Amino acid sequence: MASDMTAPILDALSASDAPLLSNEAFPSTPSLTVKSALDRLGSRQMIEYEAIDKDILTLTPEGEEIAANGSHEAKVFAAVVAALDGLKIADLPGIVGKDNAKIGQGNAFKRGWIKKDSDKLRATKESIVDETRELLLSVQSTKSLSDSKVLADLKRRKLVTVSKEITYKFSKGPKYAREFVKEETDLTPEMLASGSWKTANLKAYNFNAKGAPTPSGALHPLNKVRSEFRNIFFEMGFQEMPTNRFVETGFWNFDALFVPQQHPARDLQDTFYIADPLHADPPREDPVDDPHRLQLAQTSSETQNKPLDYQQYWDNVHEVHEKGKFGSIGYRYPWNADESLRLVLRTHTTSVSAYVLHQLAANPRPARFFSIDRVFRNEAVDATHLAEFHQIEGVIADFGLTLGGLIGFMEVFFKKMGIHQLRFKPAYNPYTEPSMEIFGYHEGLGKWVEIGNSGMFRPEMLESMGIPKGMQVYGWGLSLERPTMIKYGVSNIRELLGHKVDLNFIESNPAVRLEKE
Ligand code: PHE
Repeated sequence: MASDMTAPILDALSASDAPLLSNEAFPSTPSLTVKSALDRLGSRQMIEYEAIDKDILTLTPEGEEIAANGSHEAKVFAAVVAALDGLKIADLPGIVGKDNAKIGQGNAFKRGWIKKDSDKLRATKESIVDETRELLLSVQSTKSLSDSKVLADLKRRKLVTVSKEITYKFSKGPKYAREFVKEETDLTPEMLASGSWKTANLKAYNFNAKGAPTPSGALHPLNKVRSEFRNIFFEMGFQEMPTNRFVETGFWNFDALFVPQQHPARDLQDTFYIADPLHADPPREDPVDDPHRLQLAQTSSETQNKPLDYQQYWDNVHEVHEKGKFGSIGYRYPWNADESLRLVLRTHTTSVSAYVLHQLAANPRPARFFSIDRVFRNEAVDATHLAEFHQIEGVIADFGLTLGGLIGFMEVFFKKMGIHQLRFKPAYNPYTEPSMEIFGYHEGLGKWVEIGNSGMFRPEMLESMGIPKGMQVYGWGLSLERPTMIKYGVSNIRELLGHKVDLNFIESNPAVRLEKE
């Protein structure tokens, strides 16, 4: 803590009715320390003060050299005078040095101290006054210069630098007293009981005081955008899916989604596999007491069916891949159960959607689900890609859904985040048919950007898990990072996530609002 200057200030003033200058009265005290004491005394009118901005001039090393030994031109003049019968121009650098010769010669000519006589320099007078040196000597001792033109010239010649110094001029105020009596900041029951409040020196409220910033945690921009998306989903009647399983089996991440086992997405280059343990147990239902287990809302009259037996589901997936089933001819390759039990860091949250849809299949009815959580891909990290990111995923199950309905829904959904123009491009996902990439026109960027991927889940996937024919399911996914980067104007994803993140940015970034309809 800085030392309290209130007493020294009051002491200094007791001896003087004239204003004092802080740099003279307290030359070695930092001006901020003086200022805080002046503020405290000033707020009680014990003193009055004003701040005086002053330019402080300092000689540069070159300026110091001139003040000590004379200007370039004076050195040239001295050399020429010393030569008695003129000085050969070519000899000058050897005597006074290159720099002095170059600068000093010109200046000495300008001042009319020397003249040229064929190849010699001759003095035109016996003595000169070295004004530059005199000027610098005066600046050195007073640290000031009143002629602004001359000062500008010295600055241009890099002989002098200017810095600011704040000095306070202070004097006695109307309530000046020798001593600074501590003011009461609280009216206590004791003061009321004893009556001392009547004479107490109560501190006045300072309504202009700014509150000190309260140290606190801060929400990461991704969390802020995430909660905006959650609200959009909730207001559209979606239920949140449990996304606590970062490690999934190949079954939920791929096979259940009709992704063939030789699909490139399942390569080591694209997917992180877990080395230990190598394999999981076959899929089974979460324990009833699992806190993350999805609670599907049921009407009281409805009887809760059990989901399709897992062995049956497993066999269906096996068959639909290898031979085909439910009207599909399948991929026709030998399906390997071990591959399905390998453990992966989930590459998309569609693994969660598959698990939840399988639960829904027990009591098929219209339903809307969403999730927003982390996924992992074995990608080369660059400005727009990380090996882990977040996916926003939505799923709508209903009877008689059509592709037109999906397009219509997307228009409503993206309008809620301020994107009013959409384009759809046919795409391919192993688990949806048809599939569409979604592009949105970004007003701020002035161009079309890819914002998501979508489709209608295939019967091979849905019927294997027991979803009845006639019920269709839309699915779509987008990254959380993309809209966050656009919202916060971050162009490098590594500034948003990972070890390069600037904590000040996280702490001070503004709240996010999507321009909703
Ligand atoms: N899983 C897809 C992805 O990773 C997104 C998606 C989800 C597409 C559901 C269609 C249906 O991009």
